[in-house]
Amino acid sequence: MFKTLTALLFALPVVLGRAIDRRASVPAQCAFLLPIVDDLMDNLFENECGDAAHGALRLTFHDAIGIDPVLGGGGADGSIVIFNETELAFEANDGLDDVIDTVGPFFLKHASVLSPGDFVFLAGSLSLATCPGAPQVKLAIGRPPPKAASPDQLVPEPFDSVEKILARMQAGGNFSPQEVIALLSSHSVAGADTVIPGFEGIPFDSTPSVFDTQIFVEVQLRGTFFTGPGGNQGEVMTGVQGTTRLESDHNFARSTPTDCIWQSFVNNQKQMQDQFAAAFFKMSLLGQNENDLIDCSAVIPPAPTFTGNAFFPPSLTHGNVEQACATAAFPNLPTLPGPPEVVPPIPQADDDDDDDS
Ligand code: HEM
Repeated sequence: MFKTLTALLFALPVVLGRAIDRRASVPAQCAFLLPIVDDLMDNLFENECGDAAHGALRLTFHDAIGIDPVLGGGGADGSIVIFNETELAFEANDGLDDVIDTVGPFFLKHASVLSPGDFVFLAGSLSLATCPGAPQVKLAIGRPPPKAASPDQLVPEPFDSVEKILARMQAGGNFSPQEVIALLSSHSVAGADTVIPGFEGIPFDSTPSVFDTQIFVEVQLRGTFFTGPGGNQGEVMTGVQGTTRLESDHNFARSTPTDCIWQSFVNNQKQMQDQFAAAFFKMSLLGQNENDLIDCSAVIPPAPTFTGNAFFPPSLTHGNVEQACATAAFPNLPTLPGPPEVVPPIPQADDDDDDDS
């Protein structure tokens, strides 16, 4: 005990020193963000890669992809917050009502100094800083207020075909298939609240609080279970009990032109971090002119480090892989020891409120 305490006391000045160094490098125009960063990290996310962080990350995508050269929409403009009555009624935005309930009070608290689009991307960028293994993403601010709600039908659905999603991502964000798969790294820290009626926080992989490559491993396993009764639109069988698998993720891992891209992320943490960070920043600029924005990346803290390697969950092996990529074999990975795992649901942000009441 004494030893641990001494070690902590010695480590503290180093940690504080690093935090102070980082803050000292924040440009003057971005300094006003620092207390907001602290508020969101401590009070919205409670410094955890949990439901509130997952929701804030999903919100960035559903805001930003609301743009189309023909149909219009303002992209990464915060319209999903301001025009939530319209946008939350879109089927693809199911479940985001809870997210808006959770982040809404923080948005309102800081609305006099932060535009809706800047808030969405500050919160999304910070959500990543709670997840071990996530990259430190870039943040630009200065987005004007949104002018209108996004049109409907611009956010991909989990039952859309690979072709349809790739075409939408190309039209909305000029994203290549490689960038789309990189963005789907986000499903490493994610779960479903609405896909399976009556079930909330059903994770997409066995490690929903770590930004690791398990999503790429586990979606490639042969599906043998449903969590819940099964048969829901956009859901297919999963390989790990307690998790659920989106039909779209399943198909991306098994179709050209994305199957080999999907596999290339397995146990490639650096590739996942670098490519996700680049695609996420590109997404944060949709509908915006980067030259009109200020680079405030220095306010984003680094995520806790993660040094683990990819694995097969207990009792599963290379034999459970549904090989799809024709030009490279799925890597061989160690199997975690122990009996087959049943991954627990992700505790929901509003569970705390329930406990308090
Ligand atoms: C491109 C096609 C995509 C499809 C079809 C898709 C679909 C979905 C679906 C159906 C859910 C579950 C929603 C629920 O039931 O609560 C979900 C969750 C999530 N998605 Fe995606 N998604 C896509 C891309 C993205 C991207 C690009 C990001 C972020 C960069 C993202 C981040 C998330 C996160 C973080 C969650 C978890 C939310 C939570 O746990 O509360 N998704 N996605």
